[in-house]
Amino acid sequence: MTKKAFIFDLDGVIVDTAKYHFLAWQNLANGLGISFSEEQNEQLKGVSRIRSLEKILEWGNKTISEEEFTSLMTKKNEEYLNYIETMDTSEILPDVPRVLEYLLTKEQAIALGSASKNARIILDKVLLKEKFHEIVDGTDVSKAKPDPEVFLIGAQKLGVAPKDCIVFEDSVAGVQAANIANMVSIGIGDADVLHEADYVFSNFTEITEEFINQLVITKKV
Ligand code: BG6
Ligand code: MG
Repeated sequence: MTKKAFIFDLDGVIVDTAKYHFLAWQNLANGLGISFSEEQNEQLKGVSRIRSLEKILEWGNKTISEEEFTSLMTKKNEEYLNYIETMDTSEILPDVPRVLEYLLTKEQAIALGSASKNARIILDKVLLKEKFHEIVDGTDVSKAKPDPEVFLIGAQKLGVAPKDCIVFEDSVAGVQAANIANMVSIGIGDADVLHEADYVFSNFTEITEEFINQLVITKKV
């Protein structure tokens, strides 16, 4: 088989942490008197911590000082860290280990491509760190998704051309980043929300070994 690279987003793809980000941002927005809907939250998925707070403030038409901005980011992260404190392997999303194991038996390259600065902590908690040949996270990038930087660094570290990379993403921004990088984009979630992806599945349970084999042999032009 040819060697391809499979790049996984973390939050909402490998683990169900998207709900914790939502709760923490919702609390913060409400504390500022800004309403915050599920639709708005969809626009924050995959987006960096700093850009997320900027967007919430824009939606609420609020201007704050630099000090307050920094302190709100810290507050949000502290609340988020409280939620993930007790995380264990039970929070791995269905069939993620099966797909990772299958890729490893097929000797495919695997990387993490996450916007989160907490990615390594989470991978440790759910005991999946050693499944990844490379980890690229929010501490390695300067540009937030939909900028393709995080995925391009992953491809480069694995030594695989972008067109031979396949990205799993639950966010609109992440699917766009993969598309801009000329990678194959696989949306995990709602097909209407992730309509820009090359393929969409509700979850990894729907991803068969036959489908993975196809990805490995098919060339993207
Ligand atoms: C992304 C999440 O993976 O990471 C976003 O989808 C989050 O919701 C971003 O804001 C940054 O995460 P963190 O853990 O560094 O605040
Ligand atoms: Mg995500």
